[in-house]
Amino acid sequence: MTLNKKNSINNILEESRIFPPSKEFSKNALIKDFKELIKLKEAAKKDSNKFWDDYAKSEIDWFEPYQTVLDDKNAPFFKWFPEGKLNISYNCIDRHIKNGLSDKTALIWQGEPGDDKTFTYSELLEEVCKTANGLKSIGVKKGDLVCIYMPMIPEAMFAMLACARIGAQHSVVFGGFSSESLKERLIDGNAKFVITADGGYRKDKEIELKNAVDLALEAGANEIVEKVIVVQRIKKEIYMDSSRDLWWHELLQNQDKWCEPEIMNSEDRLFVLYTSGSTGKPKGVVHTTAGYNLWSHLTFKWVFDIKKDDIYWCTADVGWITGHSYIVYGPLSNGATTLMYEGVPRASNLGAFWEVIQKYKVTIFYTAPTAIRSFMKSGREIPDKYDLSSLRLLGTVGEPINPEAWIWYKNVIGKDKCPIVDTWWQTETGGIMVSPLPGAVNAKPGSATFSLPGIEVSIVNKDGEEVNSNEGGYLIVKKPWPGMMRTIHGDPDRFKKSYWEFFPMKDKKYVYFAGDGARIDSDGYLWIMGRVDDVISVSGHRLGTMEIESALVSHESVAEAAVVGRKDSIKGESIVAFVSLEKNFQKSLNLINELKQHVVNEIGIIAKPEKIIISDALPKTRSGKIMRRILRSLASGQKISGDISTLEDSSVLEKLKEDS
Ligand code: PRX
Repeated sequence: MTLNKKNSINNILEESRIFPPSKEFSKNALIKDFKELIKLKEAAKKDSNKFWDDYAKSEIDWFEPYQTVLDDKNAPFFKWFPEGKLNISYNCIDRHIKNGLSDKTALIWQGEPGDDKTFTYSELLEEVCKTANGLKSIGVKKGDLVCIYMPMIPEAMFAMLACARIGAQHSVVFGGFSSESLKERLIDGNAKFVITADGGYRKDKEIELKNAVDLALEAGANEIVEKVIVVQRIKKEIYMDSSRDLWWHELLQNQDKWCEPEIMNSEDRLFVLYTSGSTGKPKGVVHTTAGYNLWSHLTFKWVFDIKKDDIYWCTADVGWITGHSYIVYGPLSNGATTLMYEGVPRASNLGAFWEVIQKYKVTIFYTAPTAIRSFMKSGREIPDKYDLSSLRLLGTVGEPINPEAWIWYKNVIGKDKCPIVDTWWQTETGGIMVSPLPGAVNAKPGSATFSLPGIEVSIVNKDGEEVNSNEGGYLIVKKPWPGMMRTIHGDPDRFKKSYWEFFPMKDKKYVYFAGDGARIDSDGYLWIMGRVDDVISVSGHRLGTMEIESALVSHESVAEAAVVGRKDSIKGESIVAFVSLEKNFQKSLNLINELKQHVVNEIGIIAKPEKIIISDALPKTRSGKIMRRILRSLASGQKISGDISTLEDSSVLEKLKEDS
């Protein structure tokens, strides 16, 4: 991984405004004040084994107990609760039914065209069991990997939980990814089974998911995939291969409503989820059963301060980790009511989110800063038309939130009464790592505040030495935690080197490198300053610049490509690509559009470059490395500063300025 300092890690953000929770909120909160939080953090620091042991015993139901809390013999391949036996679908459903919650609403689902459904915990159990039996009937076995490529419909949740119930691993691929990305993930994960839908609705358009599956299979994944299950959502005629494709409703029609949960070991894999890194190939982040169950459960309970009557809504897609941990596993493990919405705000309904909050009296709302910034742009008149008085807590995730957007969120959506939890975490961490506990912490707009109990973070320089307060540096986590990723699927060496051996080890201790720059201010508040590697965040979607470069150079016209992020007032960052062409190709608007579409076909719509600049030459050092720092300045229209003496040919700069 190459570090860059694009976010200028010494660039100090200042924010002196402090927003305490209301007395009323704190009084009713699970963790009521800062002292209580510190007490928990100290208990975890003093005896972390006891701390995790107590929570694992009190929060999770085990079929068989564990003897060891943390096995660090083969660090950094840490094992948590290794001898224990459990099933996460049992913890998410059955135990609540045993505790009298059969008739409590588990899932509220709102479709984009206006259709809706709700499922109680006992109905959810039936759906999951039928799905699990359906999967078994076509030969899905414990340990098999099932790919889920679906719209935001209840069946996506049933499919995930059904896999967990029978011990199959799921690999959910976001429905916005292209057939090419899907193919890569199917092959890398060796997925024998795919669950998809005839299509889905997004922004009033129909998305052809099954068609993308067919293309992925034709392009090579057919050698692995044996069966494709198709949910009928948009009810359009689609191609069905009679030897391979099955309709979900036909498969489930006569399935038994009960399926015994498989007895899983703590460290059995629960899922693989692909995310972008600093190489061209996305990495399959592996999470296992017990640690992930505990961490998604506990963080949900602490951060969202869940109460029995809450209607909780996270606007993410289940194709991302936020959807895994905070639409499905965290809320259900806590016996909460979780809302799933198929749509997004769109030209025909800019108030879509507020309509959902009003309709279902949502009490906790969790979304991304990009969404908040775009709401700000379209004006408060829109949310002001709706009754948002049910809200009591707001959350954000995925990217830094600028103080202006934070204040708007607090004021316009939260009517100044709702605390905001700005939650920092990653696909790799399994659950939230840094966030205010809403009843206990005075928030500062733009700061994710403090690490959660059991999580020790620090800011270090490139030699792994702690920096002073207010100095920027690299964010590390000093100890393993239960929800941590266990490995990269098929690449344990990369897991070890890029996350745990990135900094020189002190006292043979492994520390986890997150890939983010951050600063801790003199009050101890943490400020995330963005990625310090070649990863960019577009509308909170994580993309590797090399991934987009690989997509571009796979086009016949492209000789070389370099991709950088440019600051964007709504999306956080947007993608700018610099491209040099092969000899026989000419620069033209048509070609630029073709290249943009090519990236969409290779990766998906989220990776579409905002701008492509075609130039004869890219700025390189004498050793042939592209100087991205220069491209970043050019992309954002800034003056090129810093040392350019290593540039091989300085005339390239003038040329590039003309082309930009
Ligand atoms: O750069 C950080 C940013 O998102 C990255 C993780 O992306 P992903 O694995 O896709 O997970 C996103 C949802 C958990 C981090 O390395 N990030 C996430 N949350 C925040 C954030 N940056 C600033 N503030 C946050 N609250």
